[in-house]
Order: sequence, then C-alpha cells, then structure tokens
Amino acid sequence: MNQPFYITTPIYYVNDVPHLGHAYTTIVADALARFHRMLGDDTRFLTGTDEHGQKIEEAAQKRGMTPHQLVDEVAPRFAEAWRTLGITNDDFIRTTEPRHKQIVAELWKRISSAGDLYLASYQGWYCVGCEAFYTESQLVKDANDAWICTTHKRPVSWVDKERSWFFRLSKFASPLIEHIERHPEFIQPEAYRNEVLSFLRSGLRDLSVSRTSFQWGIPVPEADPDGMSHVIYVWLDALTNYYSALCDQGVMAGPLVEKFWANAIHLIGKDILRFHAVYWPAFLLSAHLPLPKTILAHGWWTVRGEKISKSMPATRIDPLKLADGLGSVSHFGMPIGIDAMRYYLLREVPLGNDGDFTFESLFGRYNAELANDLGNLINRSLTLITKFAAEAPPAYDDRFHSDGTENPSFQLESIAVETCRSVARELEACAPSRALEHAWRFVGGANRFIDQTQPWAMARGKNPALGHTLWTLQASLWLIGRLVAPVLPATSAHLRGWLGDTGPLVWPDSSTGRVLVTAPALVATMPPAPLFPRLDEKAQATILARILPNDALAAPVTAPEIRSPPDRISEILSPSDRIAAPALAPPTSLISFDDFKRLELRAGRVLSAHAVPKAKKLLHLTIDLGEAAPRSIVAGIAEKYAPEALVGRQVLVVANLAPAEIRGIRSEGMILAAGDEAILGLSALDQDVPPGTRVR
Ligand code: MSP
Repeated sequence: MNQPFYITTPIYYVNDVPHLGHAYTTIVADALARFHRMLGDDTRFLTGTDEHGQKIEEAAQKRGMTPHQLVDEVAPRFAEAWRTLGITNDDFIRTTEPRHKQIVAELWKRISSAGDLYLASYQGWYCVGCEAFYTESQLVKDANDAWICTTHKRPVSWVDKERSWFFRLSKFASPLIEHIERHPEFIQPEAYRNEVLSFLRSGLRDLSVSRTSFQWGIPVPEADPDGMSHVIYVWLDALTNYYSALCDQGVMAGPLVEKFWANAIHLIGKDILRFHAVYWPAFLLSAHLPLPKTILAHGWWTVRGEKISKSMPATRIDPLKLADGLGSVSHFGMPIGIDAMRYYLLREVPLGNDGDFTFESLFGRYNAELANDLGNLINRSLTLITKFAAEAPPAYDDRFHSDGTENPSFQLESIAVETCRSVARELEACAPSRALEHAWRFVGGANRFIDQTQPWAMARGKNPALGHTLWTLQASLWLIGRLVAPVLPATSAHLRGWLGDTGPLVWPDSSTGRVLVTAPALVATMPPAPLFPRLDEKAQATILARILPNDALAAPVTAPEIRSPPDRISEILSPSDRIAAPALAPPTSLISFDDFKRLELRAGRVLSAHAVPKAKKLLHLTIDLGEAAPRSIVAGIAEKYAPEALVGRQVLVVANLAPAEIRGIRSEGMILAAGDEAILGLSALDQDVPPGTRVR
C-alpha cells in the first residue's frame, strides 16, 4: 500500500468548451484516482488546458479577441465544469502559467545541449486542427484534389519553407522500440502498443519543433543566428505539462517529481497516441529524463455514429446539461445525475473501444441497472431492515454465516469476497467497465438473496435467522457503498449516510476470505425517496428537453435521431401522429362520494414479478405498500408486460379488496390498469412517492 499513483488527462484546447468526449477522459481518470485513494495510495490527479499555438491564435482572431483574452475566458470554463461535476483533480495546469513556461524552456535547453536540435527550413503540410505536420502518405485527397487530414476531415495548409528548429526524432526510433518491448505496460491496451511499434519500425523523420509564422507560444530560449524569433512547437510545449505540474517553481525537480514522475499514467484519447507514445518519450530520452510508466489510450465516443465535433451541433452533448437533466428527475438532484452519467459512460464501453452514445442505451441502462438493480436493492433492503429492526435487530450470528452451501448468508459472503477482489483487480488494470460488471453481479446476488430468504415471511414465522438475514443485507449495502464509490461517489455518500456508516472511505479488506463480516456496527434509516427513480416516457422527455442543444433541435438533418428523441415518447408526437380515440358513451351507473371513499387506493412498488405457470395472462407480483410485509398480488397483465419490466415500477393498488385465491396463489389486492379485454396500460404516478401513500 501507499504506492504513488499519478494520473493525468490530456490538457484540453481552449478553442472549444467542454463536451462529452472531454468529460469522458476526465471522469475515467477521476474514478481511477478515487479508487487509488481508497486503497491508501499516495494519489495525484492532474488535468488542465492547452492554450498556445496557431489553432488558439486563429480562434481568437475569429472572435475578434487577443489570444490572452480567449484563453482567460475559456480555461476557467473547463476548471468550473470539472468542479461542478465533482472531479477530484489535485491540480489544474494552464500552459500560459509561468510555472509551466519556465519548465518548457528548461526542457528545450536540455534537448539542445544534448545536441538534438538543428536549424533548417520546413516545407510541407500542416493541420491546424491537429497542430501536426503530415506527409502525403498520411493524408487523403478530397473530390477537389485537396489533401485532407483524416482526423479533422479538413484541408491541410501548406507551410512554405518556414525556418524552423528541428528535433532529431529519427535517432530515437530504436531506443523507443527497445523501451516498449521491455515494458509491456508502457502502451496500453495491447492493440495500440502494436500500432505504435509498427509506426516506429517504419522509421521516423526529424520533427520541426518551432514556428516563426505566428507568435502565440513560448519563445525558443536560444538565439537564431539569423535573428528570427521562434515559438516552441505547441506539442512540445503541451506535453511538458505532465512534468511541469510536479516541478518546484522554475527547476526541473522537486519532491513531487521524485515521488510521482516515474509512476505517471497518461490517459489519452487514441487520436493523440502518436504525440504521447512517440514524441513525448523521445523528448524525455533526449533530455535524459525518466519516461512515464504508462500511456493508456481510450477510444472515441460518437453521438449516433457521428464524431463529436464543433461543426456538428447535434453531437455536442454538454456533460453539465446531461448530468443536470438526469438529476432533474431525482429527489437528490444533479449529483445523482452526475453519477448516472458516470455510470453510463464507464459501463457502456470497455476502455480502449469506441462507443456510440444514444439516449436509448443511456435510459435503458439507467432503468435496468441503476433503477431496477441497484436502486431497488437499496430500497428493498432499507425498507426491510428498518421495518423489522424492532423485532429482529440486524445482528451477526455465526450459526447462520458458517460454511454450507444451503446457507444463503454464507453464499452471499462468498460472492462478496469474489466481487471485492475482481472489482479491485479490474480497477487496478484500469478497466472500469468490467469492474462495474463484477459489482453488479453482487447487486444481483443480493437481490436474489432477498427473494430467496423472504425476510417478510421469516418475520411472520418468527424465524430466528431474521436478525442475521437483515444484518447480511445491511453489510451488503455497506459493501456496495464502497464497491461503487469510485464511479458513483454521490450514490455511495447517500448510501453510507442512510446506513450510518461514518468510517473512512477505504477499500474493504477481503484478505481473510470474508468481507461482509468486516462491516462495522450500523444503524440504518429509511431514505426520503428512491435514489434512481425509474424513467418513464414522461421523465425521459423531460430529461431530453433539458439536455438537447437548441441548435440540435433546429438543425438540419445531420443527426436525425438526435433531433427527435426516442419514438416512444408520446408527448412529443405531433397531433396528427396520435391515434384518434373512438368517442365513448358516458359512464352509466354513478356512485356517491362516500362510496368512493370506501375504496382504499395506495401507491405501491413492484418488488418481484413472476409468470404464473400454465396461465398465460397472469403474473404473480409482490408489492411494497409500506406495510410490514409486501403484498402478494396476482394480476392479469402478462400479455402486455414482461415480469422483468415491472420490477421497481410504481403502480396503484386497490388495497382494501378482500383477499382471494387465484390458481393456488393468495392475491391480496388489485393493481389498476387500463383496458377492458386487453390490457392497454398500467397505472402510474408522475413522480415517485413512498410506498403506501394514499391515492385519492
Ligand atoms: N490539447 C491536446 C492534448 C494535449 S495533451 C498534452 C488536445 N486537446 S483536445 O481538446 O482536442 O482534447 C483531446 C482529448 O479529449 C482526447 O484525447 C480525448 O481524451 C478527449 N476527447 C475529445 N473528444 C472525444 C471523443 N469524441 N471521445 C472520447 N474522447 C474524446 O488534443
């Protein structure tokens, strides 16, 4: 333990404001940093902004500003966005800060004194979007015969015989190949490592590392005999941020450098792999500085198949709006929306792969994994624990926790240990998607534990194992509060609060082969509302209205699906799209208000749903009505609803209907649904209310 862990994000260009792609990298880094802090590792997390270069100078010109004005306006928007999203970076570096500029100049001097710089003139293609030089073999031609950059899909510009300092990059191909071969962890994932190796094996050309045709950059700290003034190539400047942020003012050393540098993990998008895996280590080798530990590349997010870009408004999902929209339907507001966004981004795509963002998959995962699996488990467990606490206080009892396959608490303990280890293993390997997959196996296990043990039935039967069963559930929630903390920090904080878990947020110790037993004494309370209320069509429409950029809604058909949110959202159908309802006769027999008052309607939440064997219309539901035990209700809705679609849903229940026996199953009420012969829809409320709330 207490290993140094240093994770960095790319520093973002300030010609743009934060979008979902930037947020993705930053959130991955944040989750890994949070995990390492829980392990007790000495953790440092750096992000920042890239503020020099032709691209920024041109962006400022376009807006009629000086580059200084532009960077001072936009850089704080990145810092502010990360603050709002609860990102736990320890430092935020701007390349216009003196502490950075001094170190870039120092690095230049080292490279120069190593004899790796020479003056010549550069002639060739340059992509301002990438801030990179290209050979024709790296470009493609468009219909007008112009050379096009494959990343920005824009024509590159011709730099005609510009005087430049050159870096002897060619000299470093072999040392780099050797380093990569000796250090398999240096470039990850493996596919990117192979890509870099084949690039290196094809040989390297020397690199132009200064420009004279514009001025917005760090001046080259040595004189050009021809008296020309050069600024340092923006990638040499920018890459140095990872090192300069650790340095004591003005010197290329200091305690932070000593502790963290050799442990650096640079998390980057695959688009900037070459700069990080070839140029950066070559600069460092030339300057006789150690190399970072790992370059960890992730894939690209597209939005409905389109790359996120400035010129495509429909792809520009604002992460702050997304988090705010997702949070707007939860009692707990934006922090829970942030968690939902983090969960989706980290779970949907294994790190390294490309991913396509769609609202269908976002809402699908939210409803299935956050509302149904996790949210439901938390609600069910806390309801049971608090309800039965007086008669069976949750307490560990060795008799019910010992080895034995028939013992449900012991089985859950085994899953807990296995999960705790595999989640840690995956997070250590920087694989958050797989880590979440494992964590959800335990969530599933705990939900099954409730179905299997049926604590309400244990209470009815005065079963002596009830206290231990409730303790097992409580300890499981305690464990989940930790397993999900790196990715779902707000969820973890709320859950720990409801459990009265005030201990330090450290990773659970499963080394003894038991982990639930390490949970401290807890006193659980009931949450005021579910954390992740199910998103029905109306909630989805509300969220979309808050998230989608106005220009995306108005934009021509660049990304049609984005312009119109998922088809199922009936609220946004135009009147002509709606199916005309036949005119109905008014109801015939009237009842008095007193008759109506005799009807006891209550809001309930479906805890479980199963098909009734040999009855194709019937489902057997258990429904939480806020009573000591859930109700068993048989409902004729199987032709319209799959059982798994109902779990977690809120429904309206006639609570004072005399119980009946249907197909041998006791039915203690009726749920309200629309339709005569065929069921057309299920009753619902427009917001979540505690189970048992009276409906009038
Ligand atoms: N300023 C350079 C990086 C210098 S690092 C020394 C730069 N900046 S950027 O603003 O263009 O941000 C690039 C990074 O943002 C990518 O490497 C990636 O981490 C993230 N992303 C931007 N768009 C993205 C997607 N569509 N998908 C995933 N990540 C993306 O390049």
